[in-house]
Amino acid sequence: MRPLRRVLIAATVAVVLLCAAGVAGVVWTFNSRTVSTAGSVEFVHALPVPPLAPSTVDGEGRRVFELRARTGRHDFGDRTADTWGFNGAYLGPTLRATRGEQVLVNVHNELDEETTVHWHGMHLPARMDGGPHQMVPAGTSWHPTWTVDQPAATLWYHPHPHGETARHVYRGLAGMFIVDDPETSVAQLPNRYGVDDVPVIVQDKRFSRNGNLNENTPMFSGVGLLGDTIVVNGATAPYLDVTTERVRLRVLNASNARVFDFGFPDDREFALVGTDGGLLDKPYRMKRVMLSPGERAEIVVDVRPGERTVLRSFPPDLGADTWSERFNGGEDTFDVLQLRAADRLEERPELPSRLVDTPRLDPGEAAETRRFTLSGTRINGDAMDMDRIDVTVTKGTTEVWEVTSREALQHNFHIHDVQFQVIDVDGAAPPPHLSGWKDTVFLRPNTTFRLIARFADHADPEMPYMYHCHILFHEDEGMMGQFVVVEPGQQAGTPGGDHGGGHGGGHQGHG
Ligand code: C2O
Ligand code: CU
Ligand code: CU
Repeated sequence: MRPLRRVLIAATVAVVLLCAAGVAGVVWTFNSRTVSTAGSVEFVHALPVPPLAPSTVDGEGRRVFELRARTGRHDFGDRTADTWGFNGAYLGPTLRATRGEQVLVNVHNELDEETTVHWHGMHLPARMDGGPHQMVPAGTSWHPTWTVDQPAATLWYHPHPHGETARHVYRGLAGMFIVDDPETSVAQLPNRYGVDDVPVIVQDKRFSRNGNLNENTPMFSGVGLLGDTIVVNGATAPYLDVTTERVRLRVLNASNARVFDFGFPDDREFALVGTDGGLLDKPYRMKRVMLSPGERAEIVVDVRPGERTVLRSFPPDLGADTWSERFNGGEDTFDVLQLRAADRLEERPELPSRLVDTPRLDPGEAAETRRFTLSGTRINGDAMDMDRIDVTVTKGTTEVWEVTSREALQHNFHIHDVQFQVIDVDGAAPPPHLSGWKDTVFLRPNTTFRLIARFADHADPEMPYMYHCHILFHEDEGMMGQFVVVEPGQQAGTPGGDHGGGHGGGHQGHG
């Protein structure tokens, strides 16, 4: 053989081998990616319940809370990691206020970098919203104040710095905000905080060998961080001692990207009583409830004396192809939280057959119909631009937003300021878990969701609210847009007003 030919053959063989190794690597990654912890979690850590944030009432009658964002070391149960938290090392206290009350939250940023605190699901002025235009520089404080004016609901708070939200939330900055309302808080529902009314903040984490949080995106993930370990309220392998016949779980998916489909291994039915923006018209008997990042569900579970059962997340139907399902969590199963019923259970009233009356918004009265198409990390082809107002809404009007994801990858859609209703999903009436007030919906690919919302007040032509995909990696990559609410006839202004694109709202100060 001539030397040149020999070299060519050797090179070909090398390329073929490399390709084979590459393919084998992909196959191995593909085959080893599915995670299941079903039946293999030993529940050894009592579920921590976030404390209710203490508050005072100031001279102006405002309910005042303090939140300090800071770094710390947090014990997840079997490992200790560098984390961030509010008023502690990880997560934050539960804020609680009643409709009609004016609240003031003194947010102190004790981190080494700027952040924000956004009140997810809250109806409030844009300058108080805590989005990317309300940056709180390191070492300073921010003092948003607003009047709580919406039905009883399970809301939450988390940072929203543009391009950095995923990292800030993943490190632990998040907490619950419960709104009470004499009109819509149903007294027969379990309501003793931490006893039979329990926050369940579910997150997936990756841990490095040294115990720290691994912030790297797993190979082939199209959605950023996906973890293989579940933490609830900051604890791995948690159990909850249940002392009452029925227990209400306020479940929040505070993960960066993971979609959960919650249920129980014995397929028992539970009652879905509330979603993002409040209680439903009645309890719905369900076997599963799916939550994408940012969404909440209030469920009431019946237990029998002495039994143990597990809140499990089953493989969620992401509506995607095999490849995307595999690498984005569509085939994963997790044991999330064990419920340990006491041998003697306190009696609780039966659930009422009706909960709250919510009038349906009428698409016939919509002043505008807008379309939003999500594709790649763009909405209607555009990446987020802090200096561009994408949508101008007139105060006092109702709008229909038609939202479609064009991709076999999970996206969802969250709107600030308002709670909306789902008119239909590809023309069909919404299923129970989408039948109440919502602020975030999971988008199955190529399915059109018609959402309807009323933009009742808080006009401000210069300070936008956000709408975005709540897969935090997508949001950070620019899958977000801005809308302002204006008075009739008014034009949108310059985002951030005269504050140099920055620090509008709730005056800044050192502290
Ligand atoms: Cu929970 Cu714009 O965010
Ligand atoms: Cu939000
Ligand atoms: Cu997305």
